[in-house]
Amino acid sequence: MQDTAIIHNEILRLKEDRHAIILAHNYQTADVQDIADLTGDSLELARAAATMEGDVIVFCGVDFMAETAAIISPEKTVLLPSQDACCPMADMITADELKLVKSRHPDAAVVCYVNTTAEVKAESDICCTSSNAVKVVNSLKEDQIIFVPDRNLALYTQRFTKKEILPWEGFCSVHDRITPAHVRQAHDLHPDAVILVHPECRPEVIDLADHVASTSGIIRHVCNSSEKEFIIGTEIGILHRLTRECPTKKCYPLSIAAICMNMKKTDLSKVRHALLELQPRITVPDEIAHRARRAIERMLAV
Ligand code: 13P
Ligand code: SF4
Repeated sequence: MQDTAIIHNEILRLKEDRHAIILAHNYQTADVQDIADLTGDSLELARAAATMEGDVIVFCGVDFMAETAAIISPEKTVLLPSQDACCPMADMITADELKLVKSRHPDAAVVCYVNTTAEVKAESDICCTSSNAVKVVNSLKEDQIIFVPDRNLALYTQRFTKKEILPWEGFCSVHDRITPAHVRQAHDLHPDAVILVHPECRPEVIDLADHVASTSGIIRHVCNSSEKEFIIGTEIGILHRLTRECPTKKCYPLSIAAICMNMKKTDLSKVRHALLELQPRITVPDEIAHRARRAIERMLAV
């Protein structure tokens, strides 16, 4: 295998030649995070895709994230270095299934988590991410909200709104696998640690947490807190930024099994290949992109 430093330098040279930016999600491997221009949560990356200068976006994440970037920046070439990096939760609802739910609740607004296909976004009124779901729901005039596809995020959002939320039964298997037993075990090992979890966790796990936030929200909380120890209830890739940005804090994973294999499919050689070949490229048909863009832009304006 070629030396990481050599690949690293080649990527930097190609990035310059292509006038490219590299965006990485907080769950990416340390190598990939370290080469990125920005590492962040879904909302930060969507904003960056819409505003950062460049002709090419190399999106180190999963397919729905690259699709979102391609929808909001159609003039840019959007590359997903690992073409098969997908989010199984995003495939738990289809546009046809959503149309059926809409026909049963004609007065309800549809909020879709960004973890959805472009076709589902095109059928939705507005998107949300884990960091703005409550704000998005409360910004709507409708009293009834069809919320897809993550039932756990829907139930978490319900705690902060008087509106009636109708959740779809999707879930993230990485977060849904975390149980109250994991929380109790981690708490027994680190009784002074603050417990932080992602809103994709089950309600009974959320009930045991001190604080609930998106991936970047968790990082901000740890860095700004006067506490010293934290139990982190989300995918373990987040620990790299926590170690780098809050080196004086001790962070323990709530579950070492919380690994999103799709987020780990991207590596430096795939990033280099993407920049060299300008492939795999993510595009969204105009008619779908046009309707999906409305839902994404409406979220970005909230
Ligand atoms: P964030 O928006 O909090 O980064 O979460 C994205 C995700 O896929 C969580 O599983
Ligand atoms: Fe999808 Fe879960 Fe992986 Fe996030 S962690 S990309 S929600 S499977």
